[in-house]
Amino acid sequence: PPSILENIKDGTESGRDENDVEINWEGLGFNLTPTDYMFVMKCAKGEKFSKGSLIRYGNIELSPSAGILNYGQGIFEGLKAYRTEDDRILLFRPEENALRMKIGADRLCMPSPSVEQFVDAVKQTVLANKRWVPPLGKGTLYLRPLLMGTGAALGVAPSTEYTFLIYCSPVGIYHKVQGAVNIKVEDKFHRAISGTGGTGGIKSVTNYAPTYTSITEAKANGFSDVLFLDSATGKNIEEASACNVFLVKENVIFTPEIDGTILPGITRKSIIDIATDLGYKVNQRSISVEEMMSADEMFCTGTAVVVNSVASVTYKETRAEYKTGPETLSEKLRKILVGIQTGCVEDKK
Ligand code: COI
Repeated sequence: PPSILENIKDGTESGRDENDVEINWEGLGFNLTPTDYMFVMKCAKGEKFSKGSLIRYGNIELSPSAGILNYGQGIFEGLKAYRTEDDRILLFRPEENALRMKIGADRLCMPSPSVEQFVDAVKQTVLANKRWVPPLGKGTLYLRPLLMGTGAALGVAPSTEYTFLIYCSPVGIYHKVQGAVNIKVEDKFHRAISGTGGTGGIKSVTNYAPTYTSITEAKANGFSDVLFLDSATGKNIEEASACNVFLVKENVIFTPEIDGTILPGITRKSIIDIATDLGYKVNQRSISVEEMMSADEMFCTGTAVVVNSVASVTYKETRAEYKTGPETLSEKLRKILVGIQTGCVEDKK
């Protein structure tokens, strides 16, 4: 698949004009800031998406019996627009999000926009909201494409109407702590069923609320995130609530393989490519809790999370601590990734 950095707009126009209220870019977290426009495109069951449009950002009207509300027929994506030092705006591999959305749509029996329609809609959304793309170093514009069954029906069946929508929000760091997160291993609940056949590997909306009980409890105990184990044996690590995980031991990198359970993260893939290009060996395979506890370094990756070092992992009563700080491999990989995303480092893909 194409994976070049997309150049949305050449030139130096920032998208702000003198009538705009000054936006405070300081201290952005991962919270919703409503922006100006959203993109909406609809199609009927059995048809293809054809033409969408930008409308003012706001609430949408849904039938109480919409497929998304009753039976969870919905998937989402996440990608970001980055402002460069010279005030251009870049996207990072949006085609990959389009392809992943198509896989999820097929699994949930939904039509999906073509790659071209998806990327074009993302560009329109960014351009319409470009004053909300934070300056370099302050944050990014997070785009949330949604695909959902919006037709009304009572029976358990694919919806009669589908809506593709993109909204966006400026965001900063995802975890409250950048560079040293403390993670709790969940030993009661699972994020998704293990192995092929489930929906853990797609961005189904139904994969996220089941993590809330675990996260709420973990946060109440001072942790930033939760790591889930495989549901078949409860012995191998899978992913955190909203990101993939990596380990480093004796300069070799390990990450759970894509087996239908964990999300094929675009940041995950990018980090594997960058590390491999740098000459590191990256093993994608099952990783036991014991192996994780004896690693030298651990980090998580995701569009929202970017790359974040893990300071500790707690499994039942045992706590493992990892190397953090500027000398870590995760920090080296993060800098290269962010450099590519913001146009400072050449993208070799
Ligand atoms: C992303 O990283 O874009 C995600 O989809 C995670 C999200 C649940 C915050």
